[in-house]
Amino acid sequence: MSTTADSSLRFPHRHLLGIEGLSADAITMVLDLADSYVEQSRKPDKKLSLLRGRTVINLFFESSTRTRTSFELAGKRLGADVINMSVSTSAIKKGETVIDTAMTLNAMHTDVLVVRHSDSGAVKLLSEKVNCAVMNAGDGSHEHPTQALLDALTIRRRKGRLQGLTVAICGDVLHSRVARSNILLLHTMGARVRVIGPPTLLPSAIERFGVEVFHDMRAGLKDCDIVMMLRLQTERMQGRFVPSPREYFHYFGLDREKLAAARDDALVMHPGPMNRGIEIDSELADDIDRSVIREQVEMGVAVRMACLDLLTRDLLGNAP
Ligand code: CP
Repeated sequence: MSTTADSSLRFPHRHLLGIEGLSADAITMVLDLADSYVEQSRKPDKKLSLLRGRTVINLFFESSTRTRTSFELAGKRLGADVINMSVSTSAIKKGETVIDTAMTLNAMHTDVLVVRHSDSGAVKLLSEKVNCAVMNAGDGSHEHPTQALLDALTIRRRKGRLQGLTVAICGDVLHSRVARSNILLLHTMGARVRVIGPPTLLPSAIERFGVEVFHDMRAGLKDCDIVMMLRLQTERMQGRFVPSPREYFHYFGLDREKLAAARDDALVMHPGPMNRGIEIDSELADDIDRSVIREQVEMGVAVRMACLDLLTRDLLGNAP
């Protein structure tokens, strides 16, 4: 495979900091290119030389399995040199700031910095101090753009479209960067979005995002095409947001009985990591007739390949 038939296309942004600000055309450009990388990743010989000589550094200040590994695989499959920086053994432990760390890595002629940080806005701040491309791998409860893109790719490949679908995002929306990025993307692409959860786990004035709000799973899931479950993010909670995991599962955990309210062909999604038996029934999560959770992981590599490819092409202008 060469540089793909779309090598003349230019992504109109220097960084990928969020879904906010991306047009439907830009999102479609990523998804179309990612489709070709799904096929590439299924071949025995997965490696290309498109990013030969380029350097990608993963800088993760929060733990990750899926995002970090798939960015590493994506970079390597495109032929880049990929370094996973270990924050715990870096000079950050001696008090070096995040910005100084990024500027130091930038000075080594890095082409792409992939950053995850617990503070909302930290990745954007860092992008203003470096001249390499920066990709947001999740910042606090703000955005996780590549997760929303891989979710969109999964849905589009299964349903053939995004426009006109009804998507329910369920659970801990309050702490979820995945929910925020998905709401932005799905609206841009013409889908309808519902959020379902207890009032304690929904942001106040969430209606301003243009979503329909439900506090009852069966009512919210009625006739939905997609059921997207979210993890209870206890690491971001100070105090108790739910009475107990058992009671939470009773009212808001997805099981077959609640799923019956959705369309018969509704897909079950979860960004992972999952709390089995808390937000989703374990057996349902593994049901390949309903759950596309494994497929989401596969799409993650393809989407990140597409993003790395597009962000390392020469820009036509000086877009942010
Ligand atoms: N979905 C997601 O971001 O998973 P990781 O925390 O494992 O990267």
